[in-house]
Amino acid sequence: MDKMLKPVGIAGTGRCLPERILTNFDLERMVDTSDEWIVSRTGISERRISDAGTATSDLATEAAKKAMEDAGITAGEIDVIIVATATPDMAFPSTACIVQSNLGALQASAFDVQAACTGFIYGLSIGEKFISTGDAKNVLVIGAETLSKICNWEDRSTCVLFGDGAGAAVLREAPKDSGIIATLLGAEGWKGQYLTLPAGGSRMPASIDTVKSGKHFIHMDGGEVYKFAVGVMPQATLGVLEKAGLSLDDIDLLIPHQANKRIVDSAAKRLGIPQDKIFMNLSRYGNMSSASIPVALDEAVKHGLVKNGDNLVLVGFGAGLTWGACAIKWSK
Ligand code: ACO
Repeated sequence: MDKMLKPVGIAGTGRCLPERILTNFDLERMVDTSDEWIVSRTGISERRISDAGTATSDLATEAAKKAMEDAGITAGEIDVIIVATATPDMAFPSTACIVQSNLGALQASAFDVQAACTGFIYGLSIGEKFISTGDAKNVLVIGAETLSKICNWEDRSTCVLFGDGAGAAVLREAPKDSGIIATLLGAEGWKGQYLTLPAGGSRMPASIDTVKSGKHFIHMDGGEVYKFAVGVMPQATLGVLEKAGLSLDDIDLLIPHQANKRIVDSAAKRLGIPQDKIFMNLSRYGNMSSASIPVALDEAVKHGLVKNGDNLVLVGFGAGLTWGACAIKWSK
């Protein structure tokens, strides 16, 4: 029997960034790099780094509390918790289960999504379905990372790029004709080798040798990821607009995954979207993987850049290689 699907919107957002700032000038003292190189190649000036005792679930929990407060709900009202992360506290239990326990969200189901930097968009798409079908009322979707823990701080080609943080959103039924209009997800798994953390799983269990050879750190072919990103960002944006029945001119704000300013500039140029319609905070945070889009969304909303009725497009790419986009008519 067909059920009427309910419209689903974002009822609240929140973020949590570690206090410690690592600048490009700090990095100049750690590896053979320069502020000039990092800014000109990536657009990043500084990033946040969590301390030794902080895990992904700690940042996720704080971001979640802020999103719940913003949405005006208590932990007991959350039905589902989805944590998108590539840096879980541990392989199991899931980071979502740890967050559930921290929040005291006793009625919630909880699970992690692994789509790297695209994880938050995957999480939104999954969360939307719980509510649109009537299976849940409030879904908490969190993107949280402590990438500093898996960076090789002696590898200048990767360690300058990443930062730590968490962003969260509460999904709930939205007024008619508003909320998430369309999501579009994809993956090119045959390109997975371009961005990996090779050891610690079943293919290459942790051993003294894997530790010694740095296989528990991020390994990336930056050029290949770059090529993928500049192609897929415009393609995903156009794809989700088509699915939503919108045109490029309908976009009020584009919130891209914040990985590299050159990637975003290239996508904007191909699409013909002016800079003032693109939200950027990359220079302050670096690439926070799955946390990048929800942190940017929360900043955009809290800075008053989003008003009811605006059309937002969130678009990202990441390890997998994965990609995804989401079109939202904002109402809160
Ligand atoms: N400082 C100074 N020099 C550097 C640095 C650094 N930090 N890193 C690399 N270099 C050097 C290289 O060794 C190379 O030197 P060589 O020519 O003597 O060999 C030179 O700079 C140029 O290196 P390229 O790799 O060609 O630099 P490029 O302009 O392509 O920029 C970058 C590299 C920034 C990594 C770019 O390729 C990129 O952004 N790729 C996409 C990465 C990305 O978005 N990853 C996100 C993944 S999301 C996720 O799921 C985690």
